[in-house]
Amino acid sequence: MKPIGPLMWEHRLIEQMLDLLRLEIDRITGRKTANVILIEQAVDFFRTYADRTHHGKEEEILFRDLAQKKMSPEHRKIMDELLREHIHGRELVRKLVEAKDLYVNGYADALPHIARELKELVEFYPKHIEKEDKHFFFPCLDYFTETEQDRMLGEFRDFDQNMIHEKYRLVVENFLGRSVKRPATAE
Ligand SMILES: [Fe+2]
Ligand SMILES: [Fe+2]
Repeated sequence: MKPIGPLMWEHRLIEQMLDLLRLEIDRITGRKTANVILIEQAVDFFRTYADRTHHGKEEEILFRDLAQKKMSPEHRKIMDELLREHIHGRELVRKLVEAKDLYVNGYADALPHIARELKELVEFYPKHIEKEDKHFFFPCLDYFTETEQDRMLGEFRDFDQNMIHEKYRLVVENFLGRSVKRPATAE
C-alpha cells in the first residue's frame, strides 16, 4: 500500500461527516433547532480525527519529508497553501464552538451563526480534500523511493497508534488541570 492510501481513506470519512453536517444545516434552518450533541461530536471529530490524526500525519510526516526533497515550485506552492488551509480549518472549528456555546448558554439568536459556521466548514473541506487528492498526493509520491514510501507508511501507523492514548490522556489532563506522566516509551 502507498502512504497516501490511508490519507485518502480518511478523506472519505471526513466527507461522510460533512454529509451529516449538511443535513444538520437543513435541520437548523428548517426546524430552528440545533442538535448540540451532533455538533459537539463533529467538533471532536474535526479536532481529534481530521486535524490531529489526519492533518497531523500530513504535516508531521508527509510534508516534513517532502520539505527535504527538491520540490518543484508548483508543488511547494500547493504544500504552503495546504498548510495555510489547515490553519483556516482550525479557525472555522473554533468559530463553530463559539456559536454553539452561545446557543447552549441560552442565546437562541446564535442559531443562524451555527448554521453559517457549519456552512463554511462544509464548503471549505471538500475543496481542500480535492486539492490533495487530485493535485498533490499522487505527484508527491514520485519524490520518494519505494523504501521511503514503506517507511512513511510505517510511521503513519505508529502515529495513528498513539492517537487514542493521546486523546484520552488529554481528556484526563483537562479535568485534572495538570499533565499526566507518560511512560518513557510513549511518543
Ligand atoms: Fe490536508
Ligand atoms: Fe488531507
